[in-house]
Order: sequence, then structure tokens, then C-alpha cells
Amino acid sequence: MTDARAGGPAGSEAGAAGGGEDGEYQRLAEVAVSAVAQYVAESQAAEKPVGAPPPLPELIETLQLRSLIRDGGLDADAFEPWLERMLDHSVRLHHPAEIAHQVAGPDVPSAIADLVQGGINQPMSIYEMGPAAHAMERVVVEWMCEQVGWPEGAGGVLTHGGSLANLTVLLAARGAAAPDAWTEGVDGSLAVLAPPSTHYSVRRSVAMLGLGERAVIDLEVDELERIVPGALDDALRRCRDAGRRPMALVAASCATSTGLHDDLEAIGAFCREHGIWFHVDAAHGAPALLSPAHRGLLRGIEHADSVIWDAHKMMRTSALAAAVLVRDEWRLEAAFRQKAAYLIYEEADEGGSSLLERQVECTKAALGARIFMTLAFRGPEGIGRYVAEQYDKTLRFWEMIEEREGFDCLSRPESNILCFRYGRDGQLQVRLREQLLRDRLFHLSSTEVNGERWLRMSVMAPATTEETVSGLLDAIEAAAPAL
Ligand SMILES: Cc1ncc(COP(=O)(O)O)c(C=O)c1O
Repeated sequence: MTDARAGGPAGSEAGAAGGGEDGEYQRLAEVAVSAVAQYVAESQAAEKPVGAPPPLPELIETLQLRSLIRDGGLDADAFEPWLERMLDHSVRLHHPAEIAHQVAGPDVPSAIADLVQGGINQPMSIYEMGPAAHAMERVVVEWMCEQVGWPEGAGGVLTHGGSLANLTVLLAARGAAAPDAWTEGVDGSLAVLAPPSTHYSVRRSVAMLGLGERAVIDLEVDELERIVPGALDDALRRCRDAGRRPMALVAASCATSTGLHDDLEAIGAFCREHGIWFHVDAAHGAPALLSPAHRGLLRGIEHADSVIWDAHKMMRTSALAAAVLVRDEWRLEAAFRQKAAYLIYEEADEGGSSLLERQVECTKAALGARIFMTLAFRGPEGIGRYVAEQYDKTLRFWEMIEEREGFDCLSRPESNILCFRYGRDGQLQVRLREQLLRDRLFHLSSTEVNGERWLRMSVMAPATTEETVSGLLDAIEAAAPAL
């Protein structure tokens, strides 16, 4: 790689990050960094509206995507105006009115980690293929296990998202319940106990692991879709009556739709008593462990056999950066009983430390760098403060909504996810959401809880304030009569 400032030899290295005869990397990076900084600043200040995407074919045309990939034509001069157009059609995650999904507007240290890794590309599953990136993942996972509160022997791995993390955990649970399943396959005797409200990736993982979707035994939930601990015995009976034995039980901290937490202490005690693998899907809620005022929401998480934790939600890293964490590290390695001789070395000193034995991916991005940089710059306390601010703000929004005539909330929020509605008509909530987005005023999501449709906000951006929510309620009142 050549020196970007001085420029390298013509031809051979043109186009390589940092190379090129005219310092292309540095020039393009300057354009990109300046455009993105402006985009973030104007989003935070709400100087531009939230995005409402045009029809897909129109956007492909606007950004000249087909002609650019066939004929090329993007160069240092054309890049800047093209990038502006591209950003104009991107979701403004830092915007106060962007309250739809559990995706972080990345904090600066994580964004810079991506900038660096994008240039140096360290696929780091094996230590020798990305030593610094590999080391960062190792210490990040070690730190996460400490936060869960497990004793010595815990471990894990980072993976590309919570869905893949749930699949990986359930594979480990399958390995524990049926060690021969890797070679012999499954025989229809296994089951996974989970509430109907569990993230869809759980049910999907069960199907992908060969158990068949029917192997998911529904746990009874209350009117807020939380697991009823007193009904677990009954679920176990139903499981056995169906001729199955439980491979795992899945609880949420917190649930995707409602942002509410299952009672991990009671559920954990039940699992221990019956020798059932206890999995906590804490994709969203795990970072609340870093806020002294909120870590009680996850009381009992230390009883889990496995936990998943998405840093790209409440730790403000860019997507994706998810952790698979297990109480007994060896269980994860036992889950993948397969060898690729050219990559997996028997002798530790031949290839050095490797993550291949515990993850789906072969080549993997430097996910740990995003988390490491965020922790190193902000500290666990800084992240804990962010979580506390978002959770506390959402509580205030709940009070504001409850006070308004015509509005009601599903429940007092326990996180930064809040379900509410205007009137009772389910279709009205759907139309309101669409209208607000068409008007480019607010980007909300909607969800069904216990058979009823609700508007749903995920308060991710620090810029979202009481003024934002007051404006949202006004906009809903103004739009509703015509819908
Ligand atoms: C509780 C829960 N689990 C798993 C996931 C899946 O995570 P990902 O989108 O990173 O695959 C989500 C995503 O919203 C979630 O809320």
C-alpha cells in the first residue's frame, strides 16, 4: 500500500485504499467525511425532514445505479454531488423525528472504526489474519461476560447480528441436548419453549436447525405478552405430552414489540430446577446493565446459559455487531463439530487463536473494533448514561401521551420502546403511520400486541425531545380526521 499523501506508482495500485497515483483515498475520504458530518449535523438539528422513500425504480433511476455499475463514470469530481443525492435518500438516524426502529445513529468512535477497517480490511476470525481486530473482539467478549455476571469459564463470539446470534446459541443448545445431532441429524424429539412474542429469528432458527417450526412450544403470556412464570409447569407438561423434551427456553430482555422485560429470576429458577438450557435474548436490553438505575430490569440474567447482546442497538455502534455469550465457553465450540483442515489448526501455535470453531462465518468483519472504540472513548459509564437518558425520556413521553385526550399507551415503558395509539381503530394507526411518513414529518413503526394494532416508537436518537413528541401528537390529531 502506498502513501496516500505522496501518491504511489501509477497504474498497479490505483484504486487501492491509501494508494493510487493521485492520493485518491485521501481525497475521496475528505469529501465523504465532510458530507457525512454535514448530514449528521443537519439531521440532529432537524434542518432537513425525515426521509420518505420514492418508489424503488425511481430511486434506482435518480441515483443512476444501473448506468454507473455498467458504464462506470464516478470519479473524484462526480462523487461529491452523487454522494449528496445518495445521502438525501438515506434514513436520518440522528434525526429527532426518526423514532421507528431499534437501529443506532452510530456514535463517532464506531463510525471511525468503520472508516479505518474499511481501509485496512482485517477479516479476523483467525488471529494471524487480523491480530489487532482479533484481540479487540476477544477483550470485548470477555468484558460482556463480566457484565452478565457469570463465573470463570464463560465466553463467546461476535457475529453479524442478533438473528445469527440466536441461531448460534440454539445450535449450542442443540449440541448440549443432542450431542449426536451434528452427525446424525435430529429425530423429532426436541422442543424449544418460547413465547409467541419471541423475536421471529428464534422460530426461524428452530426451523433452520432441522427441528421444524412445530418444535416451538408456546409459553403462556400475560396481556402485555410477557412470559407467565406460574404457567411454565404447564408448558413443560404440554411439551412432554407431545413426546418431546425441551432443548432450550427463550426469554426476552426486552421484547421487540413492547420493550418489556420477562422475569428472568423466576424463569431462570424454573430452568435450573428442570435442567433446561435458559437463553436470554437481550439483543436490545443488555446495555441497561451499564446503568445503575436500570440494571435491575435484567435481574436474574446471571442464571442464563446463554445471552445475546446487540451492540448496534443501545451501544450506538453501526450495524452489525452482535454477541453470542455462553456460561460455559466449551459448549459453543462443541456446537460446531466440523473441521476445515486448511483453516482450523490442531496445534494452537500453528495458526494461533481462532474463532472459527464457534461461529457460522468463515471470513468475518472486525465487529469488535466498533464496540471497542465506543467503549474506549465513552467508557461503560458513558454508554450507561446514554441508556438511562433514553429510557428516562421515554417514561416522560409516556406521561405526556397519557395526559392527552384521545391517546393511550399499552403500558408504562421499561425501556426506550413505547407503544401508543390514537383512538382504538387498528386501521387508523396504520394509516396515521403512513401519512406521517408521506408528509416527511415523523418516521414511526407499528406493531400488533395481543391482537391489537399500536403505533410504536423506538427512541434511539439523543436529539429526540419532549418538543418532538408534542409535535408528533399535534400532527396525529391534525391528520386523523381525514383518515
Ligand atoms: C429481541 C431481539 N432479538 C433479536 C433481534 C434480531 O437482531 P438483528 O436485527 O441484529 O438480527 C432483534 C431485532 O430487533 C430483537 O429486538
